[in-house]
Amino acid sequence: MPQIDSLFVTRLYRAALSEHGAISADELEASCFAIATDDEAGQQWCEGNDFPGYTSYASLTDLPWRFPIFADLVKNLDAHVAAFAEDAQFDLDGRKLKLEDIWINILPEGGIHTSHIHPHSVISGTTYVSMPKGASAIKFEDPRSQMMMAAPVRLKDARQELKTFVYVEPKVGDVLLWESWLRHEVPMNMAEEERVSVSFNYAWG
Ligand SMILES: [Fe+2]
Repeated sequence: MPQIDSLFVTRLYRAALSEHGAISADELEASCFAIATDDEAGQQWCEGNDFPGYTSYASLTDLPWRFPIFADLVKNLDAHVAAFAEDAQFDLDGRKLKLEDIWINILPEGGIHTSHIHPHSVISGTTYVSMPKGASAIKFEDPRSQMMMAAPVRLKDARQELKTFVYVEPKVGDVLLWESWLRHEVPMNMAEEERVSVSFNYAWG
């Protein structure tokens, strides 16, 4: 038998948020909607930038300072990110990965978030607050795809680690983490109700 190894792997972390302390999903959802309703600057930014639904990204840079539930959430995420950094075997040289940004996304029916990466950070991720039936998965893309000039496509039932695109369907209360260079998108939300998530970036502090 030949030996075939996997090199240069891309890790994707998935866990229940509650593994590092309980956060009430209902309270988090209610807070996201309340903040969105009050955030007129954010609503205007979304309208002016043709952003589907709502994001607090451009308007509220201090969610954990303003809202205790976000402070609790960040404490919890810190532990998840530390666990992922350990698995990744990063040599952090005595420093920690620290929260850089955290923001709310409310994606209505028909809304999409096109393919992107998260510059200026090390680990990015999302926790899922409201995922109605039919809500979009998150789609990750092989970062080497631009190098595959003459390569055939993979079989439809190829092993997950060999696929060019991987769709993950998180549940409410899940947290996903990945390295910030990993390109991802949220395909069209086919659910009638809004898909609510909280995304964040961690940088090497
Ligand atoms: Fe993203």
